[in-house]
Amino acid sequence: MTFEYAPAPESRAIVDIKSKYGHFIDGKFLPGKKHFPTINPATEEVLSQISLGGASDVDKAVAAAQKAYTKTWSKLSGKERGKYLYRIARILQERAREFAVLETLDNGKPIRETRDIDIPLVAAHFFYHAGWADKLDYAGLGKSPAPHGVAGQIIPWNFPLLMLAWKVAPALATGNTVVLKPAETTSLTALLFAEVCQQAELPDGVVNIVTGDGSTGAAIVNHPGIHKIAFTGSTDVGKKIARAIAGTNKKATLELGGKGANIVFDDAPIDETVEGIVNGIFFNQGHVCCAGSRLILQESIADELIEKLKIRMSKIRIGDPLDKNTDLGAINSREQLSKIQELATAGDAEGAERWSPACTLSAKGFWFAPTIFTGVTQAHRIAREEIFGPVLSVLTFRTPQEAIEKANNTPFGLSAGVWSEKGSRILWATQQLRAGVIWANTFNKFDPASPFGGYKESGWGREGGKHGLAAYLKEGK
Ligand code: NAI
Ligand code: MG
Repeated sequence: MTFEYAPAPESRAIVDIKSKYGHFIDGKFLPGKKHFPTINPATEEVLSQISLGGASDVDKAVAAAQKAYTKTWSKLSGKERGKYLYRIARILQERAREFAVLETLDNGKPIRETRDIDIPLVAAHFFYHAGWADKLDYAGLGKSPAPHGVAGQIIPWNFPLLMLAWKVAPALATGNTVVLKPAETTSLTALLFAEVCQQAELPDGVVNIVTGDGSTGAAIVNHPGIHKIAFTGSTDVGKKIARAIAGTNKKATLELGGKGANIVFDDAPIDETVEGIVNGIFFNQGHVCCAGSRLILQESIADELIEKLKIRMSKIRIGDPLDKNTDLGAINSREQLSKIQELATAGDAEGAERWSPACTLSAKGFWFAPTIFTGVTQAHRIAREEIFGPVLSVLTFRTPQEAIEKANNTPFGLSAGVWSEKGSRILWATQQLRAGVIWANTFNKFDPASPFGGYKESGWGREGGKHGLAAYLKEGK
């Protein structure tokens, strides 16, 4: 007997979206000059008009951040800074539902994820860093490590508020002030966060938010008043930023792309592994830099596992992101959908075999069915390039050494997964994998105490944990 799910939509009445937003500078919302729309990618409904920040807006924001740094924030004790961070964390928890609904509307990701993963992790990041604020002498950076000053922070659209938390919480805990730019398709939760800063009575100018596009981001990167840059986004833009700051005193952390290998050995617990593979690639529509987008399967179990994976994929519910039953939401933008389509077409053309479960996709909005490609070889574009969508490329191996070679055969090095019942095999594999984060018998687990970052073209530096603090501090005595 099968049960039909009745729709269980979360109400959007809790959010109050204004028709137009300005920039948040020096504690106030200032009107922008030019605007561009932000839409709900599940319906293409225009949600609001966002300001396109120019060089003069960035100038004002940097001046406000500099003033706040010298006059207030750098004068406060760590304990006092910590109080503000705790206050922000508690307000975020109190307003969690509002943030979850707004994030789902603007981004297209399912409410199940914003409600249970994004927003709780956002609050956790503020709580974690609030705890560090008065303990920086114990961060392993000597006595009284000092902040850099004004941090310029540029974030992507895949985890809008979570990436803001990854950037803002450590910056404030360590005594830096901030100019942050959200991604053009997902500015709304950052603008709501600005209201939280007001509600927490954070001193004016400590957090400034300038909305806009790549040109606004470049204006932040090139501004002489910025001392440290934190960027998450594509490897292409990361390279541009690295070039732009070469020869300056600006410090930078870059969290870039990935092509994570999820390696399954023949002794892996098969049902748990199937669940982990699904979580690894279909979580957040695959818009995840550390997604397990290359499945590297031991040949002897490949057929059985693929069959079970297909059965599991047939149960993925795709549709209204506000419906609490939905597993896979909308693709964030038309541009991202075209990129996924283009790479999937390349997969067909290069001879891999595509499979998706039967599912109905809405004609409005941007959608892509959960997809796997089997028969993929290392030369295929879908094995080498970041697709950043719900598309899994499956490769096989015969010996453990071959699995490691295939996994490491990538310009990236962000994440990897190992599935095996044997502890010794897991330890052996993890020692040889060149990836910043490696999960064993699980995938896509995040914790503010755990450093995150990559090797090679996946970026520079670490965010989170004790290692993440180092990026915001100069060594003390
Ligand atoms: P992107 O790297 O262009 O955008 C990320 C952020 O950087 C946005 O806030 C954007 O406005 C800003 N930006 C763009 N150009 C800039 C510049 N020259 N200087 C400073 N800031 C700049 O990413 P996009 O175009 O949204 O996505 C393209 C591809 O990048 C995706 O298909 C995906 O493969 C990858 N990507 C990876 C992410 C990750 O977390 N690793 C996140 C977002 C995208
Ligand atoms: Mg949007």
